[in-house]
Amino acid sequence: MDNNDICGLLKGVDLFSELTEEQLGLLANLVVVQDFNRDETVVLEGDCSMKALYLIASGTVQVYMTGVDGRETILSFLERGDFFGEMSLIDGEPRSASVRTVTDAQLMIIHSEPFLTLIRQTPEIAMSLLSEMCKRLRKANKQIGSLSTMSVSGRVAGTLLNLMEERGMRIHTDNGQMVTVIHNRPTQQQLADMSGTTRETVSRICSMLVKANAIAMTGKDIVIFDENALQEKATKG
Ligand code: CMP
Repeated sequence: MDNNDICGLLKGVDLFSELTEEQLGLLANLVVVQDFNRDETVVLEGDCSMKALYLIASGTVQVYMTGVDGRETILSFLERGDFFGEMSLIDGEPRSASVRTVTDAQLMIIHSEPFLTLIRQTPEIAMSLLSEMCKRLRKANKQIGSLSTMSVSGRVAGTLLNLMEERGMRIHTDNGQMVTVIHNRPTQQQLADMSGTTRETVSRICSMLVKANAIAMTGKDIVIFDENALQEKATKG
């Protein structure tokens, strides 16, 4: 992969959308591109050995934390154009969470020092970084609020609404109904890890939502027919 190819990949990263061609060219010299298989751990919670920032050129990763009982809580899925690993670079603390690939993925890796220099020299990057970190903090606040105050069915409904907001596609069905489709849906275990419950409970709640015609689940997708029914569950708690 040559410098031009890497520049092409860097253009797909929101964080660098304000950079000029020349700046992208310089940045491309600092980037190492690495392929990962599905289910590989890229960053381990608590680790302080390798300080680098990761940019996703292709594929999906999940950010998660592991409890003392070994149960995982999924904080987020990140996709092409997203980044992770910035927190330890900025505050010098160990990794705050683990990150694992959920598909084959291609990642661009930038080591700490050149990245920190870039942030200091380019206020636009610092602002983009802050803006993304605010977005993640808002989402985390919502998650904390829902874990401590909502019933489990409210939390599952809230998870489905979040997924819908983040990556739902609005389409018309053959009979003219407007629905939202979440492609490449999370597994029931992943939905459970996002909602702070077990796979069996997610399965039971999803069956209820299917029976009530609020959603449909296929092998690959979730179709949301009745957003209001989910909103009602998520706000009633
Ligand atoms: P770092 O702490 O260096 O390593 C783990 C990374 O996971 C972290 O940087 C962030 O990039 C990412 N991360 C941590 N918490 C969240 C969250 N709540 N939402 C999205 N990404 C997160």
